Amino acid sequence: MSTKQQDSLFIKAAFSQPTERPPVWMMRQAGRFMKEYWDIKNRYSFLEMCKTPEIAADVTMLPVDLLGIDAAILFSDILVTAEAMGGDLSFTQGVGPRFSNPVRTSDDIDRLETGVVRKLQYVADAIKIVQQRLDGKIPLIGFAGSPFTVMSYLVEGGSSKDFKLTKLMLHNEPELAHRLLAKIAEVTTGYLNLQIEAGVDALQIFDSWASALAWDDYKEFSHTYISKIIAGLNRQDIPIISFCKGSSVFAPLMAEAKPDVISVDWNADLLNVKKSLPSGIAVQGNLDPHILYADKKVIKDRIVKLHERMKGENGFIFNLGHGIMPDLPFDNVKYAIDVIKNELT
Ligand code: CP3
Repeated sequence: MSTKQQDSLFIKAAFSQPTERPPVWMMRQAGRFMKEYWDIKNRYSFLEMCKTPEIAADVTMLPVDLLGIDAAILFSDILVTAEAMGGDLSFTQGVGPRFSNPVRTSDDIDRLETGVVRKLQYVADAIKIVQQRLDGKIPLIGFAGSPFTVMSYLVEGGSSKDFKLTKLMLHNEPELAHRLLAKIAEVTTGYLNLQIEAGVDALQIFDSWASALAWDDYKEFSHTYISKIIAGLNRQDIPIISFCKGSSVFAPLMAEAKPDVISVDWNADLLNVKKSLPSGIAVQGNLDPHILYADKKVIKDRIVKLHERMKGENGFIFNLGHGIMPDLPFDNVKYAIDVIKNELT
């Protein structure tokens, strides 16, 4: 990390140091709720955008310039690792991600490659361009998916409501599942280290679909691999944020993987979660993203309420409990950020 960022609100809060106000950024801030995103998206496919460093940097900078957030997150996707391993990935409007060659058998798993981090050099190149453009103004967050969440896309062949095939593999063929998860975890560790080398200031691991798992399955098939990844990072002074949908339940286990920050979904009372964690672990969250559809008065009330609840706590990063929805009014998102930056006392 550049020395400048050690004094930024975001890095200080991530390391549970005092800040004059909580920093704010929002998951999926580099996306479809902005007209300016569509101006770019209408000219390229989503994967072209991810793989062209100049374009990925342009999109990363949109919320920096238009929203004034306290941290940027790299524009990319959690599935680029799975693609590099051999997944035939496409994104179709209205359908989401698709793998035409789902991974369901022992042979399918054998075919996945692991020496692939060099194929992801385009991400390192994008990070370098973004850091030049940010010029030390705010920190840049890099990210990857958790092995379980990435596995679910490879096994299902795309998005899923119930993760039936994935969970069936965990339950009927646990040794296959472990072999697949271990391969993804190996690539993910190398990939996050590549991002550190390229100059990110923080990293977030997205375990978006952990909430589908029972406690024991979460522990065996997700937590184990996230712990291994975090332990394998050449992290120096780079804070690690662990996001999981289901964190209201899994926070005690997430803490055992030794992240610096736990990103909490909106089901939980954030202060209660924080108090239940070992000291020195910060929390991020946890406004229900649907609040941003509501009237401005409601948006402000809920932000003030969350702030009041967390007052006096070091280690609080304002965020949503999950990502910004594509049809959220830009004006409401901007209003929420302005309230957090300027109107909290
Ligand atoms: O936070 C940011 O703005 C940074 C960029 C980012 C994207 N995806 C851009 C994106 C990040 C951090 C992600 C992570 C990601 N991708 C996750 C974990 C985060 C979460 O919200 O839980 C997941 C599960 C994915 C997989 C993925 N990528 C899905 C399911 C989809 C389709 C979503 C849908 O509603 O159709 C994507 C595509 C995607 N990733 C888009 C963007 C801006 C939309 C692409 C488009 O313009 O069509």
